[in-house]
Amino acid sequence: MGFILKFSIINSKNISWESDQLLVFLVENNRPSQYFKKWQSLTGNNINNIIENASFSFKFGQDLLVRSSKNSILLFGYGETRKTSLDYEKLGGILFSKIDKLGFKEITIISNLEVSENKQNIIISKLLLGFKLKSYSFLKYKEKNKINSKKIEYVKVLKKEKKILEQQLYLNDNLISGIFFSKDLTFEPPNFLTPQEFVNQITSLEKIGIEIEVLNEKNMVELGMHALLGVGRGSAEKSYLVVMKWNGSPNSKKNIAYVGKGVCFDSGGLSLKTPRGMIDMKEDMGGAGIVVGAMKAIALQKVKRNVIGVVGLVENMPSSNAQRPGDIVKSMSGKTIEILNTDAEGRLVLADALYYTIKKFKPDFVIDLATLTGAIISALGKERAGLFSNDENLSDYIFQTGEKIENLVWKMPMDKIYGQKMLSKIADLKNIGTPEGSSIQAAAFLQNFVGRTSWAHLDVAGVVWSDRVSETHSGGATGWGVRLLFEIAKNNYRF
Ligand code: BES
Ligand code: MG
Ligand code: ZN
Repeated sequence: MGFILKFSIINSKNISWESDQLLVFLVENNRPSQYFKKWQSLTGNNINNIIENASFSFKFGQDLLVRSSKNSILLFGYGETRKTSLDYEKLGGILFSKIDKLGFKEITIISNLEVSENKQNIIISKLLLGFKLKSYSFLKYKEKNKINSKKIEYVKVLKKEKKILEQQLYLNDNLISGIFFSKDLTFEPPNFLTPQEFVNQITSLEKIGIEIEVLNEKNMVELGMHALLGVGRGSAEKSYLVVMKWNGSPNSKKNIAYVGKGVCFDSGGLSLKTPRGMIDMKEDMGGAGIVVGAMKAIALQKVKRNVIGVVGLVENMPSSNAQRPGDIVKSMSGKTIEILNTDAEGRLVLADALYYTIKKFKPDFVIDLATLTGAIISALGKERAGLFSNDENLSDYIFQTGEKIENLVWKMPMDKIYGQKMLSKIADLKNIGTPEGSSIQAAAFLQNFVGRTSWAHLDVAGVVWSDRVSETHSGGATGWGVRLLFEIAKNNYRF
């Protein structure tokens, strides 16, 4: 849950050197700063002596807190300036953790780095991005901790030239809004985030200029989406397909599409999961959460491109009404599918969502995101998502973009032989193949519904949730992928 964390850029006249706030001096490898003098003359402390006497040399993330009678300073090392943008983001996360522990409500960051204006803007904006990313926590259901009075509220940054940095902070904020929205959705428990509630949440994006169209079960029956509808049959909750449209380039007919799997809870259906296997299944809407978060960031940033987001929202439950192993359903494409395992439901939702998106919007390319298979976690762990595509160029682009921002993916094979495992004896397709290579077989199944459109599928089962704490993540829903989709839309790939 994002809380109010205000940033502002101030000049040296607006610093209250003597107030009880915390001044954070970024220290580059022991180098003295002109601003030290100001503080020294007020407090009588000699910072250069302090730095010299420190038993370390202010490498990346090393810090020293100095309290004087007037106020406190935190000397915060960032090594050399020759670091990557990602390093600065991580440094910002480390700084947040430090300040959070110390319990300051207001800080002023003073950077006197001897680098170009451009580099300064990059360093500060990335530092603040990481700072804010690390500030996320989901406390909605904690009655006592909801309001943490010790949390930092206000960060001031000393900087002469404001304009470009302000633009970068604006972009940060938009991106963060999308990431936090996505995290919130994935954190929400399945008794709150039903398909209906998911629709309500998406509808809130109308006010930022996203056009929203909701297809209900009746509409989907008319369109013949029985693959998707079959999954939701066992649940008391109604199923939906939601289309989000961002018309950032109204004079162009071109558009791109993102499609997400939104299984709000995956019990496995009649092919019921084990208790252990079911524990994490509220996160089975993670793919849809990424798409919705990205659409929010794209709209807030007013990206000049037409972007379509489509999510299939269902709950997969067992009941006397549920779909059975052995059933044959007809998808919107006309292809029939023999259901042999009701737990292989994501591909059924995507079959109709992908087909509908491509038929209706004819996108230049489509990327789908789905927590599709447990097997992708066996293959790649929780560090990289599986990338499957019918277009080398698109998959290269996704891979490269992911490397830059650490939304990591890994290219998986798509040989025809995998697809043959998905052919049924009595229907056109079946929804499970053999146990070997089941992530690839799942991707091959999806390929039946994209025709010749340039398409990539990201199996995000491993990456939407991580209990590994990092510089910018405190565990839980990761928000993975929001930035990847945001960058792809913003960078005008194949525009
Ligand atoms: N939602 C699961 C995949 C999953 C597993 C996501 C673990 C996140 C963590 C998906 O619907 C599923 O159940 N897949 C089956 C497919 C199998 C029946 C072919 C699986 O992976 O076991
Ligand atoms: Mg399943
Ligand atoms: Zn699932």
